[in-house]
Amino acid sequence: MKRIGVLTSGGDGPGLNPCIRAVTRTALSLGMAVSGIKRGFAGLIDGEMVDLNDRSVGGILGQGGTFLGTARAPEFKTPKGLREALRNLNEAEVEGLVVIGGDGSQHGALALHKVGFPITGVPATIDNDIGGTDIAVGVDTTMNTILDAIDKIKDTASSHQRAFLIEVMGRDSGYLALMGGITGGAEAVLIPEVDTPLEMLAQTMVDAYIRGKSHCIVIVAEGYKPGTQAVIDHLQEREEELGFEVRVTVLGHVQRGGRPSAFDRLLATRLGAAAAQALHDGKRGHIAGLAGNRVALTPIEEALAHPKTIDPTLLNLAKIMER
Ligand code: F6P
Repeated sequence: MKRIGVLTSGGDGPGLNPCIRAVTRTALSLGMAVSGIKRGFAGLIDGEMVDLNDRSVGGILGQGGTFLGTARAPEFKTPKGLREALRNLNEAEVEGLVVIGGDGSQHGALALHKVGFPITGVPATIDNDIGGTDIAVGVDTTMNTILDAIDKIKDTASSHQRAFLIEVMGRDSGYLALMGGITGGAEAVLIPEVDTPLEMLAQTMVDAYIRGKSHCIVIVAEGYKPGTQAVIDHLQEREEELGFEVRVTVLGHVQRGGRPSAFDRLLATRLGAAAAQALHDGKRGHIAGLAGNRVALTPIEEALAHPKTIDPTLLNLAKIMER
């Protein structure tokens, strides 16, 4: 293979830049040229590519975001989108592609693989819901951002004896909320995967008050039904019963930015390097992920067929720690 491409796609997260850097430097060290594709699959359809060399990926290791840009590109799911992408890859003499992104992006990579184009995927999503890896690039930094916020909110919550609802990201995944709850010391966690009646939540809060807690922290995943606003309304109507006044903080996109942690820099570097190496070695259609402490290649169909789900033992652990 003489030239490979690299793109970042879907929702961004910390660690994308170190990953692009690792793909580029590994490919160059193996004698392959590198095309950086702008704005993910959208840029691929529009043929937006730049040559990357060792220096063009210098100085980005510690930067959040992605210097190539990213996008959600529903048009790539159409036959026309795929056809245009293949045409642009062919015209630029790109013979293989590293796709850095989450579930939607890896389905895009799978579409290319299915028509015979060599790809390797690197799982990067703060939702940590993708198969083929124990942890995705970006999760660790985001968890640290969430913890920083929880710790600060706890300070003011305790001073005022208040309950706080803290909404974290995760449209379909409760991973950040559950792990934030365990590591941030929340009194309750609400996630899309578990049905928690609001009456039960209110009772948990009353119990926390009676047990003498000076605050009550509830972590809500963005995708929890019936939604954060419904929870606030329910609780604010019952403030007198609860003992706590209720406030809310939505963390939002602050969770997606920031300098990648040491863990994410290392993970992104290891997986990016493995992805470029796999293409060089003629391996087709894999996800480069972390299994235990080793980098492992999993066939992309297999990885996508087994998205990561919530570990029931962690749910149980969260319950015990809420005391
Ligand atoms: O998939 C990552 C994610 O951050 C989700 O947790 C969140 O629901 C979504 O992206 C938000 O997407 P956008 O930035 O397009 O609003």
